Parts: sequence; C-alpha cells; structure tokens
Amino acid sequence: MAKSVLHTSLCDELNIEYPIFLAGMGVKGRATPPELVAAVSDAGGMGILGCSWLDHNEVRRRIRAVRNLTDKPFGVDLLLPASMAEGVPDRAEMRARIERDFPQHVAFVKELHKKFGLQPLSDNKAAMSGEFIRRQVDVCIEEKIAVFAAGLGDPSWVVPMAHQVGMKVMGLVGNVRNAERQKKAGVDYVIAQGYEAGGHTGTIANFALIPTVADAINPLPVIAAGAIADGRTLVAGLALGAVGVWIGTAFLLAEESNLFPVHQEEIIRGSSEDFIITRAYTGKTARDYKNEVIKAWDESGLKALPMPLQGVLMDDFIAAADAANRAELINNPAGQISGMLKGKRPAKDILMSMVVEAEQVIERLGSMRSR
Ligand SMILES: Cc1cc2nc3c(=O)[nH]c(=O)nc-3n(C[C@H](O)[C@H](O)[C@H](O)COP(=O)(O)O)c2cc1C
Repeated sequence: MAKSVLHTSLCDELNIEYPIFLAGMGVKGRATPPELVAAVSDAGGMGILGCSWLDHNEVRRRIRAVRNLTDKPFGVDLLLPASMAEGVPDRAEMRARIERDFPQHVAFVKELHKKFGLQPLSDNKAAMSGEFIRRQVDVCIEEKIAVFAAGLGDPSWVVPMAHQVGMKVMGLVGNVRNAERQKKAGVDYVIAQGYEAGGHTGTIANFALIPTVADAINPLPVIAAGAIADGRTLVAGLALGAVGVWIGTAFLLAEESNLFPVHQEEIIRGSSEDFIITRAYTGKTARDYKNEVIKAWDESGLKALPMPLQGVLMDDFIAAADAANRAELINNPAGQISGMLKGKRPAKDILMSMVVEAEQVIERLGSMRSR
C-alpha cells in the first residue's frame, strides 16, 4: 500500500505510520489511560502516557498495561520542574508549612469547602519531589519505552541515559528561549505548544510560535501542539514548519479516555472563550474550563503559591470534591479548540478522520491556482 503523504521522516525514525501523537496529559492519571495510549498507537500514531503525578510503581504498571494491549511503540510524559528542590519534604510537612506561612490561602480553601458543602479530606499520595521524579525516570529507562517527553524543565540529565537504551527524548516549550535550552539539553525533538493549548501553557500563539521556534533551532525537528484537532489544523501545523502534531484536547473525547463525563460535557458544550488561563489549581498558568472554583479564586485576590505548594493546597479540596462526586469543581484542563469539538468517538476514528481530511486539504491546496 502506498504511504500517506503525511508519512514524514519522523514516522520512519519512530516506526509509526502518521506523525500524530496523543499528547502527554497528567491530571492525576485520568486523561491518558493505557487503553487510550494503545488505541492511538494501534491506529498508526503514537500514544503517550501522561504520568506526571503518578508514583514510579504506577508508572511501571501502566507501561506494562500498554504493552499488554499493543506491540506498537509508545512513550511516557513527565514533568521535570526546575523549581523542585532536591529535598522537598513530604505532603504532611508541606501542608504544615502552608498552614503556618499562608493562613489566608488555608482560609480560602476552608471557605470553598463550606461554600460547596464538602467534607474536608486529605490527599495523602506522595507529592512531587526530586526523588519522586528520579524514580519515575528510572522506570522509563528500565522499561526502554520508545519516547520520553519532558513537559516542563530541563531533561539534560535524562538524555544520555535515554539515548544509551535507544530511546528518543522530546521537550515541550512555549517560547524560543526554552526551545534553545532544550536543544542544548540534547533532545531529539522539540514540541512547540501555543497559547491556545489545554493545560499548562505560555503566552505565544501557534501562528507566531511554531515558525519562530523552527527557525531558531533548525535543523532540530519541531512538533506542533495546541488547537490541533482536524485535518485543517494538522496541515497548518506542518505548514508552519513542524514534522508532527501533539494532540491533547481532541483525544480527551475519545471513548477510551476516562476523563470525568462532566468534564467531557464541558468540552463538548463549551465555546473557545470558556477555557481560560488560571493559576488556581497548580500555581503555574494553565488553561482550564472556567468553573466556580476559578471564579472564587479570582475574586479572592490571592497570589498563587509556588509549585508544588499551590497543588498541595488544592489537592485536598480536589480529593474532597472527588469523594463527593462533584467533578465540576475539579480542574478541567482543555484548550481553545474545545469550541470546535462536538462529541465522543473511538480514538481510531478521531485519528483516521484527521488523516483523511489532511490528505484532502493537501490535495485541495495543490490545485488552488485559478486556471
Ligand atoms: C488534560 C490535560 C493535561 C495535560 N497534562 C500535561 C502533562 O502532564 N504534561 C505535559 O507535558 N503536558 C500536559 N498537557 C499539555 C499537552 O501535552 C498538550 O501540549 C496540549 O494538550 C496540546 O494542546 P491541545 O489541548 O489544544 O491539543 C496537558 C493538557 C491537557 C489538556
């Protein structure tokens, strides 16, 4: 069978059919279950397990769960925040520090519980720390997955270990300065993620970001991320200078995703304006669905605590909301392209309709000149 016009050099390097990635999406393990990762890889793209908040044992369990479902290549995405001190204390110590040093933030969360009628609850999972992340990385290297992606931070210490076992490394960026840092760190691909994207995001939109990054780090290849969800946006990413696309929000509506149904409804019903930038849940700027908690946070006038403290502060609230079945109070990171998405489909349908439409778009562009 003839190869698709979309089959770029990246496909040969990674042994995949189409240059389409399921983006690494952490959100406490809900967004990219092994079933979704395997479905995207089986369909000819590459699934990426978002593992940022999962401890190393769970990372290994999920990698092996994907292997049980597919023999196709897949990757893992982790966060490597530079601000994470080596000896970050455990969650109980961080909670005690927040109680002592940030009484207004504690009062804000208590008020949230009262306002929404939630019983206080403690999230006692291990918090992110230098040690937590090192163990996650060790598992990825031991398991020799195809791709390691760093969603944040400096992966220079991971690159030699990954290359030694034949893995490729990607680094996600939102501006040229960080793209140049990733290049210096030795990554194989830079993912340029625009302002439109869901989750943690920068300030530069993709029309400016992708070509500027591509020029700055040439010949290092770029993968485009943010607001890519159909054939038109896929081709646009390639036209702007990328060799592949990294897709988050569109795959949140895959039937294999285990996102809260309430969150999927918000994406289906929401318009692009409903997905706004906030520091409320993690302390870093993230694009989330605008819910009542974000509204209350904005009204409080408080400044977000540095990562990971804001997360520790809000995790207890999230645990309480989850226990009470109030997913509408939990952060729903998703991008501006939600305004275009209309319903749930199997991951394979999402991917293949993108491929078919992209091939048609390329053909249409090739025959646009008037005669
Ligand atoms: C629910 C959600 C969770 C995310 N979590 C992570 C993460 O843990 N690590 C990361 O590198 N990027 C994360 N991102 C960003 C994605 O990797 C990707 O860059 C983004 O979704 C692309 O934009 P799009 O949502 O418009 O497709 C997340 C995005 C979403 C929507």
